[in-house]
Amino acid sequence: MKPVETQIKHGDCLEILKDYPDNFFDLIVTSPPYADSRENTYGGVKPDQYVEWFLPRSEQFLRVLKPSGTFILNIKERVVNGERSTYVIELILELRKQGWFWTEEFIWHKKNCYPGKWPNRFRDAWERCLQFNKTRKFQMYQEAVMVPMGDWAKTRLKNLSDTDKIRDTSDVGSGFGKNVSNWLNRKKAYPTNVLHLATECFNRNHSAVFPEALPAWFIKLFTREYDWVLDPFLGSGTTCKVAQTINRNSVGIDILPENYELAQKRTITTQYKMLEEEAEYETDFTAGNH
Ligand SMILES: C[S@@+](CC[C@H](N)C(=O)[O-])C[C@H]1O[C@@H](n2cnc3c(N)ncnc32)[C@H](O)[C@@H]1O
Repeated sequence: MKPVETQIKHGDCLEILKDYPDNFFDLIVTSPPYADSRENTYGGVKPDQYVEWFLPRSEQFLRVLKPSGTFILNIKERVVNGERSTYVIELILELRKQGWFWTEEFIWHKKNCYPGKWPNRFRDAWERCLQFNKTRKFQMYQEAVMVPMGDWAKTRLKNLSDTDKIRDTSDVGSGFGKNVSNWLNRKKAYPTNVLHLATECFNRNHSAVFPEALPAWFIKLFTREYDWVLDPFLGSGTTCKVAQTINRNSVGIDILPENYELAQKRTITTQYKMLEEEAEYETDFTAGNH
């Protein structure tokens, strides 16, 4: 099997991406540093400066993404002075002005979010995964993320009404219709835009690691084998590790040396394995076995 390439880079993604050509990546999936009113480990991007900080970087993302590609932004606004900050909403509006289409919003529901008590709100158990595109026609491989039909089939499909058996056109004039009986005897259905995934504690020193299943889901949905995936805020290396596992080429960038090293370690085992595979491949090739 042809080996995949994994490039782990150290530096500011704004600068590193200048080395990459236009229209190179098939998917960008990332979780940027959160805006924080405290001084933080990334040098402290303040909520009111967040959009200004983000836009030059997203301009690079727009340039390096293929027209058929997708950008998934995992982000959540913080609570500052008892109020939700508005920087995510402002960022969406500015990204649209920059030339992005805001195609969809997925919700990552954190299934195992820990208990807590706050005087004015409940525990926060979800984050946004915003989908942006360069064009309205982007690659999407929906069959790759189908889910088992589950109990819905047993209950709902057993009691079909008359309208369920014909195509029921939407009342709101959207042009969409549904025919529930179409799903009879099918084992799999398309998923919803809510992803129920447990958080993972791969590294307690790295506070904002996302679970492997999160980038994996988007990589499967928006790319094929050997496509190129970018995570410009790589952190502990989750995206590149997953990309390697499911045979996608990837580039990951992080500004902190410790994260760069951690990401390298997390992906190196697979890199070594692939080098061995490559050596075998070459041996086979020279032996005329192909
Ligand atoms: C929320 S964390 C990413 C966590 C990652 N998804 C994971 O699973 O480990 C954001 C990362 O962005 C990095 N970062 C902040 N500013 C950056 C920049 N300008 N260029 C590249 N990386 C940056 C931080 O060092 C941090 O590791």
